[in-house]
Amino acid sequence: MGIKVGVVGVGYWGPNIIRNLKQLPTCDMAICCDMDEKRLAHMNRLYPGMKTTSNYDDLIGDPSIDAIAVCTHVSGHYPLAKKALEAGKHVLIEKPMTAKVDEAEELVAIAKKNGLVLMVDHTFEYTAGVNKMKEIIESGVLGDVLYVHCSRLNLGIFQRDINVVWDLAPHDLSVILYAAGLKPRSVQTVGAKLLHPKVEDMALVNLKCANNASAVIHVSWVDPRKVRTVAVVGSKQMLVYDDLDPTAKIHIYDKCVDNPPHYDTFGEFLCSYHYGDINMPRLQESEPLSVMCKHFLECVETGKTPRSDGESGLRMVRILEASDRSIAANGGEIMLDA
Ligand SMILES: NC(=O)c1ccc[n+]([C@@H]2O[C@H](COP(=O)([O-])OP(=O)(O)OC[C@H]3O[C@@H](n4cnc5c(N)ncnc54)[C@H](O)[C@@H]3O)[C@@H](O)[C@H]2O)c1
Repeated sequence: MGIKVGVVGVGYWGPNIIRNLKQLPTCDMAICCDMDEKRLAHMNRLYPGMKTTSNYDDLIGDPSIDAIAVCTHVSGHYPLAKKALEAGKHVLIEKPMTAKVDEAEELVAIAKKNGLVLMVDHTFEYTAGVNKMKEIIESGVLGDVLYVHCSRLNLGIFQRDINVVWDLAPHDLSVILYAAGLKPRSVQTVGAKLLHPKVEDMALVNLKCANNASAVIHVSWVDPRKVRTVAVVGSKQMLVYDDLDPTAKIHIYDKCVDNPPHYDTFGEFLCSYHYGDINMPRLQESEPLSVMCKHFLECVETGKTPRSDGESGLRMVRILEASDRSIAANGGEIMLDA
């Protein structure tokens, strides 16, 4: 028998988690829960043998369930995950981990106190492309990372309860924090409600990071084309990652700027540009959600700390909350704790 898992929230994303969990031999995908009966009927059609319920206490009160995956909208993450952790269940929680920093801190503390695995589905940290980027950056071929620029644009999908930064930027933050290893010190966000009446549907997030590095994230639900790109500018070489490129997601550009060793005035400032080859490393792709679910089950089984643990979820929520404060202050700079 595998690890017995229950999933709460089977709207758009939850069924993807269930499909991947069901394919893993280390998992006994036991029951799913949703307060919408239509979603449960849909799951019954997809998986006739799987138990369904509209009462979350059926998962919480079942001592045979080892772990719960929380896949509801963001404001539901904290109360549902807290109940699961307090009942002694390991928890996999969708990104972003919670709607508030103090909620994330509390979940981390409960998981620690009860010796339970708390993992966040930072899906991008389980993709071949992002891990290849991490490997390239850590190998030093790019030199020091000076700047990261991310664009995540599309027409839709509009969310009701969170703005576009909370919805889309977690993926870019995974690249900035996990792959590029940058340490943001402050956040400045300008956002606009172009079409959405309640939350920002377009935003530009500027992160000032340690060692004079910086990162910019452009996210939008109101854009004509789907764009998913990251540019990493290093002191020696540069890299572009295009998640939508079917054959070569990563291009490494042997390009850089050579500055003179010393100059006194701008008039004396000269630089030369180096143009070399472009390389496209091969990626061994597998479904990121499957890799992520497998890692969660392995952590439950062995007690290993997950790659995207509660602390990393908390780090991300701190940036997202600071971004909201910056939007409210018309793009004012909000400092993050070092
Ligand atoms: N990792 C990724 O790439 C990725 C992609 C999309 C969505 N997500 C995340 O997945 C989560 C869900 O997003 P979605 O688009 O599937 O939302 P959704 O609104 O389509 O689905 C949420 C479901 O949860 C159910 N629900 C809410 N509260 C409940 C409760 N207390 N008990 C039982 N059921 C409850 C709703 O009825 C609904 O069916 C969000 O946190 C989102 O950020 C992650």
